[in-house]
Amino acid sequence: MLGKKKVLITAGPTYEPIDPVRFIGNRSTGKMGLALTQTFLQEGCEVVLILGPVSIQPVYHKDLKIVNIETAAQMFEASRKYFDWYDIAIFAAAVADYTPEKIAEKKIKKVGNTLEITLVKTKDILFEAGKVKKSNQFLAGFALETDDEISNAKEKIVKKNLDMVVLNSLNDAGAGFKVDTNKITILEKSNKLIKFELKSKELVALDIVNHIKKIIS
Ligand code: CTP
Repeated sequence: MLGKKKVLITAGPTYEPIDPVRFIGNRSTGKMGLALTQTFLQEGCEVVLILGPVSIQPVYHKDLKIVNIETAAQMFEASRKYFDWYDIAIFAAAVADYTPEKIAEKKIKKVGNTLEITLVKTKDILFEAGKVKKSNQFLAGFALETDDEISNAKEKIVKKNLDMVVLNSLNDAGAGFKVDTNKITILEKSNKLIKFELKSKELVALDIVNHIKKIIS
């Protein structure tokens, strides 16, 4: 048992509004983050879940606080309040990297044959968390890569000051956004690499939590 550790999790997509009815989003279902939430709760931890717009909400648990947000900016504001608080943080959210520079006040009419929307970079929440991470805090991110997976993940660990990256590759059938299964590789700060079999997201969550337990104990 991990016991009364404080765990911060981000999960789900973000929606970046274009006008009052439209947004830019992605296909994240939040399932991986929700499975991690359940597993940490079963371990006796206190969990704060910063959750983007998803169709499934976790069931009530006395040790779970859910903060529902929509945009990347809101996810950053909600998460940063807990940067100082957590013992373990896992950022599983699929945060939009870019957001419309301006939100149109009224629904955009179909006038021209093309439409240009200028996008500006959002804050990298995981990077911001890494900047202020204390030595007794454990910070992990997810990475979804299509090529040069391992070297990209290694770079991410250094750039974002992480203890661990959970890598899922789009090259693996059965891994990724829309499915109930996942196939992960864990990369530790020490460059140690552990490959796991394809399994349900619940069992993947168990592998991740068990692995973190091993590292921090
Ligand atoms: N992440 C975040 N805030 C962002 C973007 C990403 O917190 N604005 C987190 C995700 O939750 C995940 C990790 O960073 O844990 C994933 O990063 P990823 O999107 O794979 O890579 P990037 O660093 O954004 O770089 P690139 O997209 O160029 O690979």
